[in-house]
Amino acid sequence: MSILVTGGAGFIGSHIVDQLIKQDESVIILDDLSGGFEQNINRKAKLIKGDICDYDLIKKIFSENKIEYVFHLAAYAAEGLSHFIKRFNYNNNLIGSVNLINQSVIYNIKCFVFTSSIAVYGKNQLPMTEEAIPRPEDSYGIAKYAVEQELEVSHNMFGLNYIVFRPHNVYGERQNIGDKYRNVIGIFMNQILQNKPLTVFGNVAFPLREKTRMTESVIRDKVLMELKRVGLSGSENKYPAEISGGMKKRVALARCLVMNPEIVLFDEPTTGLDPLIGKAIHMLIRECQKNLNFTAIIVTHEIPAIFSLVDRVAMLYNGKIIASDEPGEIIASKDPVVHQFINGELEGPISIR
Ligand SMILES: NC(=O)c1ccc[n+]([C@@H]2O[C@H](COP(=O)([O-])OP(=O)(O)OC[C@H]3O[C@@H](n4cnc5c(N)ncnc54)[C@H](O)[C@@H]3O)[C@@H](O)[C@H]2O)c1
Repeated sequence: MSILVTGGAGFIGSHIVDQLIKQDESVIILDDLSGGFEQNINRKAKLIKGDICDYDLIKKIFSENKIEYVFHLAAYAAEGLSHFIKRFNYNNNLIGSVNLINQSVIYNIKCFVFTSSIAVYGKNQLPMTEEAIPRPEDSYGIAKYAVEQELEVSHNMFGLNYIVFRPHNVYGERQNIGDKYRNVIGIFMNQILQNKPLTVFGNVAFPLREKTRMTESVIRDKVLMELKRVGLSGSENKYPAEISGGMKKRVALARCLVMNPEIVLFDEPTTGLDPLIGKAIHMLIRECQKNLNFTAIIVTHEIPAIFSLVDRVAMLYNGKIIASDEPGEIIASKDPVVHQFINGELEGPISIR
């Protein structure tokens, strides 16, 4: 009895092969090495170097081996690019899959495990639930969903058992990060691990890629919208070294706002800026806060500038909040500590040394 793993030289496939080998299974890998690597292949597995689109080869593999399970992962998973390589996409990802499904039906295998993609949902289906109805928006997602549907009808018509996974932005060891059209998280993590800078776009997209299940096209729309909000349209491909201090603060604000926070803590948001740019950043924070209605807590020593910006001021002294009121009340405070601090007086209860 053998298990056929297509794409077993690839990132996810090679890990599946390792797990199957650990369970003492006999594994045959079918991979054309277009995106995977020989060094990923477990030496206890047998590699057949070939293409899932080669139907004669698929027939031969099934006729010569007693295949009981198929883990089908072989695909070219470049979602955004798929619009521009439609024929290749459908041939590789759909027709290649149908070749495997046909033989799986003919040889009555026990189960066909298909790695689909979150791309079947398309965009703007948040939050995602098991009940969300697939509505793919690109050729890659359409091909994946078509395979899912083909599996369903093959089950109904011929009793083929199947399981579908819809992963999203998996990343980790053995990921092919040489292809800029996919594996964005891997490319991104690699930049960070090598201490290489991220573009403005990459910075703002980071929390969405890490913490949400949004598709890349939704992420792109959101990032560009936030960059527009903070006045950085057109700067998305710039690196940190190419932008000014004020622009860096705007990027930081966009990266934060892109997650629709309820509360934002700003820790000295104008440090290192000249007074004019600092004022512009303060005003931008206020404008965003009013428009988006989040609670902004600003830790700052920008006195008195901050008083004209905020609704309430709290003063921390020796680890305690000693005053909390509207700005006018704080300015008029008779408390000697508050008075000395906000007026910048050297004489008073606060020891300067
Ligand atoms: N990595 C992710 O975040 C992710 C997310 C959703 C879905 N998926 C799906 O999971 C599967 C595996 O993805 P991955 O990230 O490991 O990609 P990968 O590129 O590392 O692995 C795919 C493997 O399939 C092989 N392959 C491609 N076309 C082939 C063909 N015509 N014939 C034979 N072999 C072929 C490649 O050489 C490669 O080894 C894919 O089907 C992909 O669509 C991946």
